[in-house]
Amino acid sequence: MTGSIVLFGPPGAGKGTQAGRIVSLTGKPQVSTGDMLRAAVKAGSPMGLAAKEYMDAGLLVPDEVIIGLIEERLQQDDASSGVLFDGFPRTIPQAESLEQIADVTSVISIEVPDEAIVNRIVGRRMDPETGEIYHIIFNPAPAEIADRLIQRKDDTEVTVRARLAAFHEQTAPLAQWYADRNLLVTVDGNNDIEIVASEIQEALKSL
Ligand code: AP5
Repeated sequence: MTGSIVLFGPPGAGKGTQAGRIVSLTGKPQVSTGDMLRAAVKAGSPMGLAAKEYMDAGLLVPDEVIIGLIEERLQQDDASSGVLFDGFPRTIPQAESLEQIADVTSVISIEVPDEAIVNRIVGRRMDPETGEIYHIIFNPAPAEIADRLIQRKDDTEVTVRARLAAFHEQTAPLAQWYADRNLLVTVDGNNDIEIVASEIQEALKSL
């Protein structure tokens, strides 16, 4: 399969959880703007410091910063046969810029109602060594690594509500934008992780 895939959905929809499986199935590298921004924050770069204020407040980082990051990332060799975008694009201007520089062949939208999102986000834990994503109830980590798990700074109830508001206002309209281009495939994300994974696998087969 040539071209790039976009994984689309609200915060906590399960984009990161499903991305690893899609990478294994398609061989396309995962390009997560959230992970790239968190790496820039950790490195203390000027861009990272500027982005941090937006991220901590649950707001979207300005389009020009994000588009610059993506343009740079797509120049790397491993992106030549397409990538899996996770959390990008998130605004119509980002999608319009992407259209100029990459061939998006499908957009998988993971749909989850708002009321399920807060519990998912507040209970999320990450393994800083492997990047693996867990949940204290829905996907518990093995006991031997429990001590090293971390919680993302923006995974609070207050911030997730701001992130959800940003999603509905700025990102949700993209679903129709991609549907108009016959690229949108929707998956019910309000199911067990394995059921969602097999629905995505079926969707990928039909592409
Ligand atoms: P980003 O890192 O992209 O965060 P997000 O979109 O808010 O998505 P999340 O990572 O929170 O959720 P996810 O869908 O990956 O869910 P996960 O699999 O972890 O962005 C962070 C910030 O960076 C943004 O707020 C913004 O400031 C900035 N940013 C990033 N990209 C940007 C862009 N393009 N433009 C502008 N700004 C940008 O799952 C969540 C939890 O639920 C986990 O605990 C998991 O175990 C659990 N879970 C997953 N699936 C299921 C299931 N089926 N059932 C039960 N639990 C489940």
